[in-house]
Amino acid sequence: MTTQRVERVDTVLRHRLASVVVACEDVFDPHNVAACVRTAEGMGLQDLHWILNQYGMRMLSTVAKSADQWLDFHQHAGTAAGVAALKAEGFAIWVSDLQAEHTLETLPLPPKLAIVIGNAKHGISDTMRAAADQKFILPMHGMVQSFNLSVALAMTLGHVVPRRRAELAARGETGDLPMARMWPLRRKWLDYSVERAALVRRELGDLG
Ligand SMILES: C[S@@+](CC[C@H](N)C(=O)[O-])C[C@H]1O[C@@H](n2cnc3c(N)ncnc32)[C@H](O)[C@@H]1O
Repeated sequence: MTTQRVERVDTVLRHRLASVVVACEDVFDPHNVAACVRTAEGMGLQDLHWILNQYGMRMLSTVAKSADQWLDFHQHAGTAAGVAALKAEGFAIWVSDLQAEHTLETLPLPPKLAIVIGNAKHGISDTMRAAADQKFILPMHGMVQSFNLSVALAMTLGHVVPRRRAELAARGETGDLPMARMWPLRRKWLDYSVERAALVRRELGDLG
């Protein structure tokens, strides 16, 4: 384990966002799943919710580039369950939807935000649409009707994440992952760099 590795893990954790999460509704194509995972991780999010109605989740590791090992996945059996779980945690639900009228710039950022991305073929479900606190559209200026869903996610996070980071910076903060979540993640991430980490920890008397 190098000092640089420990510093990198600590820096990334300090910049992690728990107040913005992504929820993918019935996104099943492994390329899209992997691209969403990689985008969310690269933007510094920690939580990805999979809301599965008809499909199981499959991921292409070649596209995800191991981004999945740095994230926490939350799976929900159906839209109603996913919405209930997110609302119970206090998240406002913003749905990216081609039928929406608002654009992101016009919406004030809530303290906790779940961004929902829809299925490539059918888009957002009616249940999700009805449950949404806000629906937004990414303006389209070309001939095609919609963006690829992982591109829509990247564009959305490209707007929302800098806004949240600016709010944090104004308070002198870099991220908002609670300390109680940071420590177990730090331990898990550092273990990735050590061969047979569990054995090493046991031999050292697991000093934490
Ligand atoms: C390929 S699109 C789905 C197209 C589908 N035929 C429909 O009518 O919604 C997949 C998902 O990406 C997101 N998306 C794509 N383009 C978007 C846009 N211009 N504005 C908002 N969301 C968009 C939405 O979440 C959408 O459900």
